[in-house]
Amino acid sequence: MGEELENMKKIGVLTSGGDAPGMNAAIRAVVRTAIYKGMKVYGIRRGFQGLMHGDIDQMDAASVGEIRHRGGTILNTARAEAFKTEEGIQKALTVLKVFGIEGLVVIGGDGSFRGARDLSQRGFPTIGIPGTIDNDIVCTEVTIGFDTAVNTVLEAINKIRDTVASHERTNIIEVMGRHSGEIAIATAIAGGAEGIIIPEVPVDIDLLCKRIIEGRNRGKTSSIIILAEGAGKAMELEEIIEKRTGMETRATVLGYLQRGGSPSAADIILASRMGYHAVELLENNIGNRVVISKNNKIMDEDINKALAMPSKFNEELFELAMVLSI
Ligand code: F6P
Repeated sequence: MGEELENMKKIGVLTSGGDAPGMNAAIRAVVRTAIYKGMKVYGIRRGFQGLMHGDIDQMDAASVGEIRHRGGTILNTARAEAFKTEEGIQKALTVLKVFGIEGLVVIGGDGSFRGARDLSQRGFPTIGIPGTIDNDIVCTEVTIGFDTAVNTVLEAINKIRDTVASHERTNIIEVMGRHSGEIAIATAIAGGAEGIIIPEVPVDIDLLCKRIIEGRNRGKTSSIIILAEGAGKAMELEEIIEKRTGMETRATVLGYLQRGGSPSAADIILASRMGYHAVELLENNIGNRVVISKNNKIMDEDINKALAMPSKFNEELFELAMVLSI
């Protein structure tokens, strides 16, 4: 019979990559669950950057009070190039050893999961929690921050709609998402957009302009086009669409507005459930997993498998956005 491993007693938590609303709720869940289970928990500042430099403090239940509803991340975040080298990874492993940390929770997107995998591969149990507004992590149906970002964009669309309707204009609204059209599809449907351009589908500007003109001929006085940043630049499309449709056209780039703000209840609840699950895995000395949500159940998946999955595209929702945009 093999020797039974003792439950883990000291864990760390960090946030990495782009911040997302709900990251603080995830930190809170990790810290409080760990303390509830009798573990010590350490907060690592500035992601893998801070890990390599030992920027680490012990956290208690009070240190995560009143953060659940705050946007951003109290641990700060960074994109650490140095961590991609063997030297950087070894530096991080040494720091973890010095602090006696036995397992780590990494909250972030796929770039952060690569860092988590690199530590796991070298025998250090690490769990990834998907925190990104982009919703581009294939193994989970939803990532922390997506719901809030979509609601933030919707609020912006509704305000912009007032102005474009008053001036009888077209507005191209550029939304984030890196290489993914997830935010664009969701907000085009929720915001009743007249057009949608995403990286997953080749853009047909002629068709887009034809639809704007047809809409105008039917009595539409304004149009909103949602453009995913991965498919082009709103400023560049502005002139083309104005020329071809003859309608006054403006561009709006929403930018970081979409990343900040208080998380929605759905994101706080998702983050809390995922944080709890991550600690449960580490407590049982399980690493190399990504926490996921499937059919509203919180589960986990192998990090390597998660990273190898081809990118997703919700064709059904895209079709819906196209049908409703006439
Ligand atoms: O991953 C989140 C995200 O906001 C993407 O949508 C965007 O492409 C990127 O981060 C921007 O990153 P940065 O923080 O470097 O501006």
